[in-house]
Amino acid sequence: MNLSQFSLEGKVAVVTGGSRGIGRAAALAMADAGSHVVVSSRKIADLEGVAAEISAKGVKGRAIAAHVGKMEDSKALIDQVVKEFGRLDILVNNAGTNPYFGTMMDQDEKTYDITMNVNVKSIFFLSQMAAKIMKTQGGGSIINTSSIGGIRAGELGVYCATKAAVIMLTQVMAKEWGQYGIRVNAIAPGIIKTRLSEALWKNPEVNARAVSQIPMMRLGEPEELAGIVVFLASKAGSYVTGETIVIDGGRVHGEPAWREKK
Ligand SMILES: NC(=O)c1ccc[n+]([C@@H]2O[C@H](COP(=O)([O-])OP(=O)(O)OC[C@H]3O[C@@H](n4cnc5c(N)ncnc54)[C@H](OP(=O)(O)O)[C@@H]3O)[C@@H](O)[C@H]2O)c1
Repeated sequence: MNLSQFSLEGKVAVVTGGSRGIGRAAALAMADAGSHVVVSSRKIADLEGVAAEISAKGVKGRAIAAHVGKMEDSKALIDQVVKEFGRLDILVNNAGTNPYFGTMMDQDEKTYDITMNVNVKSIFFLSQMAAKIMKTQGGGSIINTSSIGGIRAGELGVYCATKAAVIMLTQVMAKEWGQYGIRVNAIAPGIIKTRLSEALWKNPEVNARAVSQIPMMRLGEPEELAGIVVFLASKAGSYVTGETIVIDGGRVHGEPAWREKK
């Protein structure tokens, strides 16, 4: 098999939420595959280190601060990328947030709006901006970060609803933009050890309960999602669109079956 189909040589990628966790791992993997990568998040200081790691791989790494919940920031990000690189081939809509842990009975409007804004509205408009550029280039790849919380009802009410919306946005965008050579796919991680999920894995009791529900009986690491992102971004995934790929150690299929007693 010719592995060059996984190459991203000469491509220009943008990763939102690229300063740490899943976004950082995806950005570094795409750089390994030959893409220039712009990492973006709110805090420039956190991004600079990742951009330096990317540049050390022999491609261009660039850090641009943007709050994806603010339209003017999203627009400035895409404009700056096109100004500096002249094109945009890959957009990884990965920035996400969950500002509220608790019952939906008690959730307030402020945390509802933040979650919807950052997890859904930003993906719609960043994708729209990117697609207009990709259309003129003859194609591109958009990869959205959903969650298994968007597939089956979890405990994080509004967050789960936003991640379900990401899956449907992915499908309808794929349906409309396939004609332009633009593929739109999503990844749906289970529990991955990052700052966003630390409330789950730093508490030994909660961690043990989560692990007991995962067939692979462990949480995931950000690097375990990176290969899928490269696949979806590259020629290897050239006929895949509208899909949501689950990476969760088997959790959506239920608890481990016939578990050996230890
Ligand atoms: N970890 C999991 O178990 C898990 C499971 C399923 C899905 N996900 C999804 O995976 C994605 C990445 O999360 P992660 O687990 O890698 O979390 P993380 O390590 O906490 O990283 C979150 C990233 O998003 C950025 N960010 C947060 N709010 C932002 C905003 N308003 N504008 C721009 N950037 C923003 C953060 O940087 P700044 O703070 O500098 O802005 C950071 O780079 C999210 O969409 C999340 O919902 C995670």
